[in-house]
Amino acid sequence: MTKILKAGADAGNNALKLWVKGQQPILIPTIYSIYMGETTATMDEDDIAITALEKNIDVTINSPALSQNGKRYIMGEKVIEDRVKGTELEKHSDKSTDELPVMVTLTGLAINAMRMNPTVNKIDVTYDLSVALPVQTITPQSAQANAKRYMGTHTVIYHHPSGRNVIVNIKIEYCKCLPEGGAAAWGIVYDEHGKVTRRKVDTVQGIQETDYVDKTLLSFDIGAGTTEIVVSEGVRFNPKLSEGLHYGVKETILDVIKRWNRQNPRKAIENITEFNEIYLNPEHPRHLSLREQSKAAFQQLATRISTAIMDKIDDMKDDPYTFIYGGGAAILKDSLQQILSEKGRLTNVTFLNDAIFVNARGLLVYTCSPRFELQKQKELGVASDAS
Ligand SMILES: Nc1ncnc2c1ncn2[C@@H]1O[C@H](COP(=O)(O)OP(=O)(O)OP(=O)(O)O)[C@@H](O)[C@H]1O
Ligand SMILES: [Mg+2]
Repeated sequence: MTKILKAGADAGNNALKLWVKGQQPILIPTIYSIYMGETTATMDEDDIAITALEKNIDVTINSPALSQNGKRYIMGEKVIEDRVKGTELEKHSDKSTDELPVMVTLTGLAINAMRMNPTVNKIDVTYDLSVALPVQTITPQSAQANAKRYMGTHTVIYHHPSGRNVIVNIKIEYCKCLPEGGAAAWGIVYDEHGKVTRRKVDTVQGIQETDYVDKTLLSFDIGAGTTEIVVSEGVRFNPKLSEGLHYGVKETILDVIKRWNRQNPRKAIENITEFNEIYLNPEHPRHLSLREQSKAAFQQLATRISTAIMDKIDDMKDDPYTFIYGGGAAILKDSLQQILSEKGRLTNVTFLNDAIFVNARGLLVYTCSPRFELQKQKELGVASDAS
């Protein structure tokens, strides 16, 4: 029987975060450009190193989930590197129907397969996959339709500058779609082997170690386009108490970019991915001035989000175990922590490590769970032999 790889893919407004069991996670900025051909002759170039595949994406995708097939795209960081105009998700995109999340997810799954088979030119790989949609827009119908478009067979051809093409045939045997944030609870409560995770937390009685199987959890996933506020009992998602805010850090970043470009027209920042490259890289020559210019706007946003956090904690009785994560949490952490600490509101609050990958990890843990297997058997009538 084929070995089935287990994966969780969190395709967001800012980036795809993909975590395959036993592998290093992959991040691909959600931006692409249609391939126009080379502007200069590329001769005698080497293959892309296996560790740099996701930074040099040049792929052709064939998939029943896409309206146009056989098209070649530049994707992620290479769009910035090659200085081509990129397309990102619009401000009010619908992730359940937009094709960009599918394009980056399939590319990520292909790159993972290439990492596992570095010298092979034709790879057949099978996955079980979990994906997610925002709490504010997810419905049973959109979740099912979103999962369905991933199931089946897709082909990604990775073009090395040397001319070598790697053909990756991806079969997604079963896919399940969860609410963003709700998915993360799986990674907070369990690990991918089904073992219960214990964490240290600052409670009213001081620092204590606890598990979260039967606890009330409040999760804040601060993304680019949306912020998810999710309540769950352990991993049991509570849709009545969960809600979504229609903003994340993207609006603020676009504002900062506008102001920056007015002041620095010759060093204009083209898109959010380029902003991130400068803002998150301390060695970038414009890093410090961009940080300085962004400070007030991010502080303002942190104030707005911390109010939402405190209001939600107050709406629930007893201090719930509160987790704050998402790429936005990484950017706003210092300001948020300062505001919550000044107000004495840090009881039971944890800022999770690897904030940007928390959902992807949760989705992976879910894909590895007996619950996923049960759903798969119910819908497909097969059991997998995944290890
Ligand atoms: N390591 C990182 N790489 C890229 N962006 C990061 C990183 N750490 C923090 N960020 C920032 O976090 C923001 C939100 O990123 P995140 O990936 O959580 O959004 P998303 O999940 O794609 O968006 P949404 O959930 O709204 O669809 C980014 O716009 C970026 O500014
Ligand atoms: Mg997100």
